[in-house]
Amino acid sequence: MSLYYRLSILMFIFILLLCFTTIIFSSQATIVNTSLIRHRILTFDYYDKTCPQLEQIVGFVTSQKFKVSPATAPATIRLFFHDCFVQGCDGSILISSKPGSKELAEKDAQDNKEIPEEAFDSIEQAKAMVESKCPGVVSCADILALAARDYIHLSGGPYYPVKKGRWDGRTSMASLVYANIPHANSTIDDLLKLFSSKGLTINDLVVLSGAHSIGFAHCKNFVNRLYNFQGTNKPDPNIDPRLLKSLKMSCPQYGGNIGVVAPFDATTPFAFDNAYYQNLQGKLGLLASDNVLFLDPRTRPLVQDLGKDKNKFFGDFSLAIEKLGNISVKRGKKHGEIRRVCSMHL
Ligand code: HEM
Repeated sequence: MSLYYRLSILMFIFILLLCFTTIIFSSQATIVNTSLIRHRILTFDYYDKTCPQLEQIVGFVTSQKFKVSPATAPATIRLFFHDCFVQGCDGSILISSKPGSKELAEKDAQDNKEIPEEAFDSIEQAKAMVESKCPGVVSCADILALAARDYIHLSGGPYYPVKKGRWDGRTSMASLVYANIPHANSTIDDLLKLFSSKGLTINDLVVLSGAHSIGFAHCKNFVNRLYNFQGTNKPDPNIDPRLLKSLKMSCPQYGGNIGVVAPFDATTPFAFDNAYYQNLQGKLGLLASDNVLFLDPRTRPLVQDLGKDKNKFFGDFSLAIEKLGNISVKRGKKHGEIRRVCSMHL
């Protein structure tokens, strides 16, 4: 065998080995990227040694805030949801846009501008208090996850344990928000596609939508249903006539006050309960995207089950929000940071 021939064979084996190891490494990288592994990197005892008072401090701030401004509860739950759906649960929604920067931060995207400032304030307050006890240790992303849980519980919803260990993201871009957030006019297929792209199931979609058991929506998000549903120049036939009448009074077709809001849950607007699902069955849903959950045969049975059983809703919601809180979580200096002030990078 000539030397040249032997060298060619060796070269071939070398390339084969290289390809093989690359495949192994890249498939490991893929495994590391799955939400399942990320799920495992969060733990209940993450701050047990470094900040044992964490949950107590966050609990103190949220309960004080809830007393003076109960609307902070739904606002913070929405804040958590929008944080997790855009680049994962990494507190990137809390960052303020840099003055003079071309790219705005997530917070200033159109979809997030409606989130009341109180929600941002309460996270910032909790963070300041946590920093005074355990400086440079706890991420804003974890504080947001804990605060959302506290507000759910303060509003009458379930109390579930929260896993911790999220790091804060290093980037925040308004341009990423629209495509990653569901909208009031999203179809059921849009919603299912979006939730599935985040690793969430059809059940998670219906169960997490139950967060609309509390909180408010601006007229612009449902005004088409009142006057010109799907271009028909008529109201949505799937809206209760009494609800239609009262919503029309708050939200005229033209020239209304853009700040006016209506409660999601017409029957128990301040209680986190399963009345949301009963309302959907009685044509009392507020957004078209709420209503479709009852209209579509794939999701209707889930709505019916949750409407019958509050304990089931609470149990399922606790599991689904844990999944939400695991979406693309970051760990380590390469991907993240632990911010001292949630609105500003280090
Ligand atoms: C399934 C698709 C969803 C759509 C299309 C949707 C859309 C909306 C819209 C348009 C508003 C009203 C914003 C405003 O006018 O100020 C809103 C509010 C709210 N959303 Fe959703 N949402 C969805 C899912 C969720 C999920 C999964 C959660 C939490 C787990 C959530 C929590 C909230 C809360 C609590 C409010 C009330 C906010 C407040 O009162 O300040 N939403 N949502």
